[in-house]
Amino acid sequence: MHRVTLIPGDGIGPEVTGAARVILEASGAQLDFEIAVIGQEAERTTGSQMPAEVFESIERTRLVLKGPTYTPFGGNFRVKVQRPGPDASIEERSYPSLAIALRKELGLYVNLRPIKSYPNVPSRYRNVDLVIFRENSEDLYVGNERMIDADTAEGIKRITRGATERVSRFAFDYMRKVGRRKITIGHKANVMKMTDGLWLKTAQDVAQGYPDVVVDARVIDALCMELVIKPETFDGLLLTNLYGDIVSDLCAGLVGGLGVAPGANIGADCAMFEAVHGTAPDIAGKDMANPMAMILSSVLMLRYIGEGDAADRIDAALSQVLGEKLAITRDLGGSAGTKAFTQAIVEKLKSN
Ligand code: NAI
Repeated sequence: MHRVTLIPGDGIGPEVTGAARVILEASGAQLDFEIAVIGQEAERTTGSQMPAEVFESIERTRLVLKGPTYTPFGGNFRVKVQRPGPDASIEERSYPSLAIALRKELGLYVNLRPIKSYPNVPSRYRNVDLVIFRENSEDLYVGNERMIDADTAEGIKRITRGATERVSRFAFDYMRKVGRRKITIGHKANVMKMTDGLWLKTAQDVAQGYPDVVVDARVIDALCMELVIKPETFDGLLLTNLYGDIVSDLCAGLVGGLGVAPGANIGADCAMFEAVHGTAPDIAGKDMANPMAMILSSVLMLRYIGEGDAADRIDAALSQVLGEKLAITRDLGGSAGTKAFTQAIVEKLKSN
């Protein structure tokens, strides 16, 4: 039995995580859910957007399935974090969003994004199947920027051997585990000889330990061009934080956009699975949300915990429902609601 902390989230979050839970339970995977609430609702009841109970639950489960969470607009967003312990005081910390706050607080250093074509999902390509490993903790996103004077700003790009080794090892281990064959390392070492040079050299050094995985390196701009010309030739992409951020969305666009894109954030002994989309306040509570990205995120979670059979069953049922047009949600040109789409997958799981 695997324990999972389930964060329903805001907006369409409860609908799409609810759908994922129903399907996970129908798949036969042995899961025990602990519900945890973060954000505005948690603040109303506990005074903290990230209360100690949530961290306590995650300490028990080390596994999080998270719905999207609302972040108020405006520059100075502060997150009230309450870490458990004898002095569980509430500390205000500066983070751009609640989702990022949770990734940082839990030390999740890899962002994993599978990109796969599904039948009857409108897109330009039919047979894309790759996975992106994005380093999640450094590069230009360390937040070290300054104004030199009113007309000049600069920012630090930080690359370390340690962070590069750990994401590279994760990527190669993952490729082996899921039977994928080739990793392409994205870089701009021809221009940024020290930072991207260190990134490339370190990733290539790690690759030496995995002779069964083919390694390839591409300058990032050329990689982007090849991705839009022949995406089906790529298998695994290993990217720094900034390139990974941009290329992830480019690749989501190759298979139908952000609405169908799942994701995972993974650390040394903890992982969090979440869809890429947000809370979609315009359709929340209307049974209009497409739960596909959330369902695919939970499929990733199953693979992570070694429940590969259940993951394959859900993935196949989802493909069949789309391929046979049994239920297609509105965002993909159909008319099915969240519940009808979910039910169609459950029926397939039962009949397969
Ligand atoms: P959004 O992804 O919520 O919505 C953009 C558009 O896509 C909307 O038209 C929405 O209806 C549609 N959409 C999104 N997901 C859909 C789904 N599953 N099915 C059908 N249509 C879907 O992005 P937006 O509007 O920029 O952000 C809204 C809120 O979500 C903000 O508060 C933002 O901070 C938060 N957000 C949270 C994230 C997280 O928790 N990981 C990630 C991105 C945004």
